[in-house]
Amino acid sequence: MAKITDNEFNLLREYIREHCGIGLGDEKAYLIETRLSKLMALNGCESFGDFYRVVKGQTNGDLRDKIIDAMTTNETLWFRDKHPFTILKNVMFPTVLKKIKPGEKVRIWSGASSTGQEPYSIAMTIHEYCREHPGVKPEQFEIMGTDISASALFIATAGRYDSFAMDRGMPPDMRQRYMKEDGRVTCADDKLKKLVTFKKFNLQDSLAPLGRFDIVFLRYVAIYFSLEFKRELVERIARIVNDPGYLIVGAVESLRGVSDAFEISSHDGGFYYTRAK
Ligand SMILES: C[S@@+](CC[C@H](N)C(=O)[O-])C[C@H]1O[C@@H](n2cnc3c(N)ncnc32)[C@H](O)[C@@H]1O
Repeated sequence: MAKITDNEFNLLREYIREHCGIGLGDEKAYLIETRLSKLMALNGCESFGDFYRVVKGQTNGDLRDKIIDAMTTNETLWFRDKHPFTILKNVMFPTVLKKIKPGEKVRIWSGASSTGQEPYSIAMTIHEYCREHPGVKPEQFEIMGTDISASALFIATAGRYDSFAMDRGMPPDMRQRYMKEDGRVTCADDKLKKLVTFKKFNLQDSLAPLGRFDIVFLRYVAIYFSLEFKRELVERIARIVNDPGYLIVGAVESLRGVSDAFEISSHDGGFYYTRAK
């Protein structure tokens, strides 16, 4: 594997920060070595310095997208942290359903949807809620899953998972109700797919084209960003949520010291945020 010099590391980490917001600390040079060596060789480069010059010389963004794809961590699982899905059913759906006008949909955004486990877990929660509340229909909801990683979005859109992915957090009853077996692969049923739209989106870009949302999931992505970017992103999210404006972050994440745009509440051992009045 090629070794990276301090200067090459500084150039490439600044490039990565500029194009996807991911910040790499001084101790993360090995990450560039392990994740970009192959791409570097495929582009005929013998050093990371050569590779940086090729990347900067490229105008169509292909190589940039491949670098982002290699540098993002797409780690995810079904019903991650569990509490958010109870909070959806017990707190958020009842409140938001009362507020939406006839013909309108409850709009939910999974802002770093990775390979789809998060938005499909939300879709299963919607179906379960509708089973328990016969007056409510799945068609009253829509979920948008966005991510910067093209390869993660490819899996998410296909909704096809291997046994390793299926073993990570999927309850057997949910698997039976909402997934179909297809040989060695397990697929999201059309019932789930109908509720979710996937789109490539960089969280550094303006959120306006996505429209407004009632509930936003922003989990295990802001941990890779600088404090300034995290703050700015949370404040932009506060401007695109409808009243009361719900935000869910990861169980080990917090907005304390980041932004006052949302206030924390707890429910049944978990927590969630509501836009500050
Ligand atoms: C660790 S996964 C989290 C997936 C899911 N939210 C969960 O909690 O299981 C982080 C995701 O954030 C995405 N990501 C990183 N930087 C991004 C950016 N600037 N814009 C959009 N997505 C980004 C990565 O591609 C990756 O799929």
